[in-house]
Amino acid sequence: MRYVIANWKMYPQRREDALRIFGDTVAMMGAMRGIRVAICPPFVWLPVVSSLAKSTVWLGAQDSGWADEGAFTGEISPTMLKNIGCRLVIVGHSERRTHVAESQEIIRKKTVATLRAGLFAVLCVGEQQREGEWEKEILEQTRSAIADIAQDNIQRLLIAYEPVWAVGTGKADSPKDTVTSILLVRRVLKDKFGAAAAEQMPVLYGGSINAQNIHGFAVEPEIGGFLVGHGSLDAGEFSKIVMAARLKEET
Ligand code: 13P
Repeated sequence: MRYVIANWKMYPQRREDALRIFGDTVAMMGAMRGIRVAICPPFVWLPVVSSLAKSTVWLGAQDSGWADEGAFTGEISPTMLKNIGCRLVIVGHSERRTHVAESQEIIRKKTVATLRAGLFAVLCVGEQQREGEWEKEILEQTRSAIADIAQDNIQRLLIAYEPVWAVGTGKADSPKDTVTSILLVRRVLKDKFGAAAAEQMPVLYGGSINAQNIHGFAVEPEIGGFLVGHGSLDAGEFSKIVMAARLKEET
């Protein structure tokens, strides 16, 4: 099973465009074996598009609060997200780490809160630059983020390896180097959850994936799916990515 997750980031600006992109994307996805598609619009569009989500296309959120309830002005709880039909939450995206200084501690709490609410967590990790101690950066980020996760919840844990230098730049990582980094992530998962569980855990790639370069990544079985930003805002482009991402033995 591979996951292809659309992260719309802070787009689109208008309700009618959110409805159109979501509706067109759902219309282009039939029932597909071996692939799970989710779309993560900005919070305000979640109730607008939620009735269009189907078993074939899940609704997801780009972030969540770390508490289940309480006096947290401006925050949204994972329980609320579940209530409105979300199945999945992106946690610790590099844009949140960079622009709102989301800390390792907050990311750890958000991951636990998301899983506790019964949602899938898509935990993002990745180095700033491919230089210096970049491998250590991946290992430490992953180790810190998963520290408090209970073994019972790991069926709903996905990791997204997103090298920051590849996000939104048009310069994707190479498929071979992506696999090397995914194996680093998997080493941390093995230490924490054991080899058998870690082998099953999907580790996705994100960073400038488009309908052209997807083919080079799709042939690598170690890559558990894709987190797609700009390439997900056009339903036609995104559906090409989804089709190409299917594992050959499952099509
Ligand atoms: P781009 O596909 O726009 O590079 O974004 C990747 C990403 O951040 C998905 O979460």
